Amino acid sequence: MLRTKTCGELRKSDLGVRVTLAGWVDSVRDHSGVLFINLRDRYGLTQIVFLQGGNDEMFNTVRSLHPEYVVQVTGTVQLRPEGIVNKKIPTGEIELNAETITVLNRTEIVPFQPSAPELPAEETRLRYRYLDLRRPAMQKTLLLRHRMTKVLRDYFDEHGFVEIETPMLGKSTPEGARDYLVPSRVALGQFYALPQSPQLYKQILMIAGYDRYFQIARCFRDEDLRADRQPEFTQVDLEMSFVDSEDIIEIISGLMSRLMKEVLGRELKLPIPRMSYDEAMERFGHDAPDLRFGMELVDLTDLAKEFEFRVFRSVADSGGRVRAINAKGVAGKYSRKDIDGLNNWVIEQFGAKGIAWLKADGQGMLTGPIAKNFTETQLQQIAERLRVEADDFLLFSADTFAATCKVLNGLRRRLGLELNLIDPNEMNFCWVVHFPMFDWDAEEQRWIAMHHPFTAPLESDLSYLTTAEAETTASKTAESETFAPGRVRAQAYDLVLNGFEAGGGTIRIHDSHIQSKVFDLLGLSAETAKEQFGFLLNALQFGAPPHGGIALGLDRLVMLFGGLDNIRDCIAFPKTTKAADLMTGAPSPVAVKQLEELAIQIKSDNTKNV
Ligand code: AMO
Ligand code: AMP
Repeated sequence: MLRTKTCGELRKSDLGVRVTLAGWVDSVRDHSGVLFINLRDRYGLTQIVFLQGGNDEMFNTVRSLHPEYVVQVTGTVQLRPEGIVNKKIPTGEIELNAETITVLNRTEIVPFQPSAPELPAEETRLRYRYLDLRRPAMQKTLLLRHRMTKVLRDYFDEHGFVEIETPMLGKSTPEGARDYLVPSRVALGQFYALPQSPQLYKQILMIAGYDRYFQIARCFRDEDLRADRQPEFTQVDLEMSFVDSEDIIEIISGLMSRLMKEVLGRELKLPIPRMSYDEAMERFGHDAPDLRFGMELVDLTDLAKEFEFRVFRSVADSGGRVRAINAKGVAGKYSRKDIDGLNNWVIEQFGAKGIAWLKADGQGMLTGPIAKNFTETQLQQIAERLRVEADDFLLFSADTFAATCKVLNGLRRRLGLELNLIDPNEMNFCWVVHFPMFDWDAEEQRWIAMHHPFTAPLESDLSYLTTAEAETTASKTAESETFAPGRVRAQAYDLVLNGFEAGGGTIRIHDSHIQSKVFDLLGLSAETAKEQFGFLLNALQFGAPPHGGIALGLDRLVMLFGGLDNIRDCIAFPKTTKAADLMTGAPSPVAVKQLEELAIQIKSDNTKNV
């Protein structure tokens, strides 16, 4: 080794010990002839002092150093003089009195210094990711990620799970997002798809008898990116046989408790609270509610039916909903201009028609431009329903149920942040269960699967599907008394942490009769189903045990455990929102020869293939 100690480990107890350190120069300071450098590696920072004493060569070397030079220093540990003890760092009581220094490598002038307090633009950070990854904050996150992965691997091993790898080159199947395709050279004109998740393989592993599978699995989805999404991400994926929802929930709750304890040193009270999908949508307007603060959605549709106010009345009469949130005691904080801003924001962000608002004055009386549309009694009804007190600020949305959910969830989250209603240290877990099986796609006039088509319905809701056989295809598009796909709930569960979907899973259908009913409802003919999922359908016929599973988003979990707000900070080499890797330049053109070998011709004129 070129060092005997790391830059993070020397303490007072090492006084007088002779050591060799190696690392990067964090800073160089010249205090009237006494030179100091801070030497950094991933373990920490050590101050090194170079005292004048005839060693000119050493002094000249130190004077020639620039930040990020790589050096090796040998010296003796001594106490820092009183007054320059640095309590903020673990090595802050000592320094190294240098005897020799060797420059192991020089550096070009760096585009930014990892030690600088101000971060450069994210583009620069991603382009020079190796410099960015030298920053202690990034190193802390990647170490956290390592630690979490280690804890969860141990946990699964202790619980009898087997880690099995599944292929990266698979078959393109219609899952939620677009596939990343890989052309085959051997079978020209044919493609593999990178996995969106190991879903089908893990079900097949259950049929193969592996009973408890897990994998830290890379997944690829060509979808529009956001702060909590990456095109290439990692799932903690698992599947179990002979289980129901309760078993999966128990295993994952136990894992969360273990992670909280071993990674953050905190207790997680079990059981994790649960909420049905319907309740989440009703109270928070979102299926991953942030429960760290209140401001719940309140329904006023019944009252609105009696109102004269056209905006509310017409929506209530036509089957829509009138709902509101109450931001307590902040009427004074939002000027007309601020409210216009909120109004424009919901219009732009959610395609809303607008928001209506009222403010309570010091006596709790409701005021505002729309107040004149209501009688005294009606204002009182609104105030009672929303538990109005002095200086409350009420925001209303009148629209379809789905639209009011979007608007009010958006406003609630925004105000929650703006008004500092969220304790950033809280780790708030909840399970959201009983998701609907199907969603009606109004544009395409068909039912689509909320999760995936292998999700099992709740036993108690099977009757809404069972009568389907008697119906004609035409009448299936609308809900009737007996046939009501919209009412079928799934054996599905999502783990929610601080308002983010940290994971989601389902119990799968293992009965081919129910499976064909579901395919039928989704408009998948037997032929298409066979073509797309034939291998799974075949396997299901050869003794499939009842099974189910879940996948957690590891990048998201690290983000939430690390108290970060950007998934890119939790991944060593992430992609930009345009799915580009700025450091390597991927995606990039390829040689024409490579394309020829694959019999691929690029249509557009603006290709840069060489
Ligand atoms: P699902 O699609 O819900 O389920 O994914 C599971 C979890 O993966 C994370 N996740 C993502 N993280 C980062 N970037 C993305 N683009 C991204 N997409 C998803 C989320 C999500 O909760 N096979 C099923 C699981 C199952 O049924 O067992 C599946 O993939 O945290
Ligand atoms: P109007 O009578 O059209 O001027 O609307 C009165 C107020 O209701 C305005 O502040 C609008 O922004 C607001 N508004 C309009 N449409 C909606 C809606 N769908 N939900 C809630 N408020 C709305």
